[in-house]
Order: sequence, then structure tokens, then C-alpha cells
Amino acid sequence: MKTDDLKKAAAQAAITYIEPKLNPETIVGVGTGSTTNHFIDALGAIRHKFDSAVSSSVASTARLEDVGVHVIDLNAAPRVLVYVDGADEVEPGKAALKGGGGALTREKIIVAACDEFVCIVDDSKCVDQLGSFPLPVEVIPMARSFVARRLVELGGDPVYRDGLITDNGNVILDVHGLTIDAPDTLESEISNIAGVVTNGIFAANRADTLIVASAEGVSIR
Ligand code: A5P
Repeated sequence: MKTDDLKKAAAQAAITYIEPKLNPETIVGVGTGSTTNHFIDALGAIRHKFDSAVSSSVASTARLEDVGVHVIDLNAAPRVLVYVDGADEVEPGKAALKGGGGALTREKIIVAACDEFVCIVDDSKCVDQLGSFPLPVEVIPMARSFVARRLVELGGDPVYRDGLITDNGNVILDVHGLTIDAPDTLESEISNIAGVVTNGIFAANRADTLIVASAEGVSIR
């Protein structure tokens, strides 16, 4: 089975999973990326079953509006029932590494604000330990070199993501070679460096529900 078919299967399983929870007041959180794009496309078909969505990126907002989903600002959302998003890696404890698409800061804000984070992946994203995928760190532009030096001290090899400005006007350093054996600790350590906006470890607010699609079928963990 092709990876894209697996992404689509995970997204469709998320629709089946959230549909019974929806009511006319529900606000659904929506992530960013190719797996989430399949979720958005399917969400359009049930748009009459919930009120609106909050979105983690300009790209997802445009796609949601294209399928007829009303998108509101998170400041106008008293409650986000469920947030559905992909990941670049996820480990057995459901901590994830995210931000390959550059939308990590808004993703992390909505994850923190939601009642339930449903992470949807194909089985190639499941790892024993996070860190083979380079860790994205969103940085205020003037702090780029300073933060890079601190990340080297932590054992990483930061690479500037050339040409990318985030939706928040910042830059991204992709950190290779980190040993992420304590995701909670490293997440807060990196976030505490002055000039760092967010890093792509989602451990403090890890997935509540993990939907994995493989050639054998879909499992909900
Ligand atoms: C976006 O910034 C990321 O966090 C995505 O959720 C992650 O990169 C997964 O993307 P794909 O579904 O495209 O693999």
C-alpha cells in the first residue's frame, strides 16, 4: 500500500473517531501537513455536524475554507473539543516530533488549548525514540546565531531552514543528531533558551489518542 493511501486511511479513521463527539457548538482543531490535508478534505463532508474549526496554519485555513468549513480565531473559541494533526515521528509513550511543515508554534498552541489531541500517522512515523527526524526549532530572527550555539552545546547540529519564514514571521533551525531519550526534559530545556519560540517536541502535551495506519489496517491506541 502506498504511503499516501495509509495517510488517507488514518485521516478517515479520525473522522470516524470524532464524528460521534460532534455537536452544533463543537469547535474542531485542525493541524497541518499532507496527512491532515486528507482529514480536512473528509471534514468538509461532515461540516454541518459542528460549528467551526481553528487552524494551525495559513495553508490549512485556506484548505478548510475551500471545503466549506468556517474557520475562527483561537481567541474566539471558548473550547476546542478535539485537535487532529499528523506528526513526523511518534514514540510508544505518544510523545511526538512535529514541525516538518514549519507550523509547529500554532500547532503547539492549539494542542495546549484542546481537550483531546488525536495524532494521525502512517506506520513509518512510529519510532522507538524520537530524533532521527531533525528537530525543528522556531526562533526569533535576531536570536538565530545565539540559539544555534546553545543547541550545539546540547549536542545538536542546527541547520538553518533557508528560505522559510513561518506564519509568525520567524525562522526555523532543524537540529540534527540530538539524543531525545527524555522528551519532556529536552522540550522544556530548548523552549527556555531566550529567542526560542517553540520546539517540535510535543511531550508535555503529548497525543491523547494515536491513530496508526499500516498495511495490516488501522489501530487506535
Ligand atoms: C507540520 O508543521 C508538521 O508538524 C506536520 O504535522 C508533520 O510534519 C506531518 O506532516 P505530514 O503529514 O505531511 O507527514
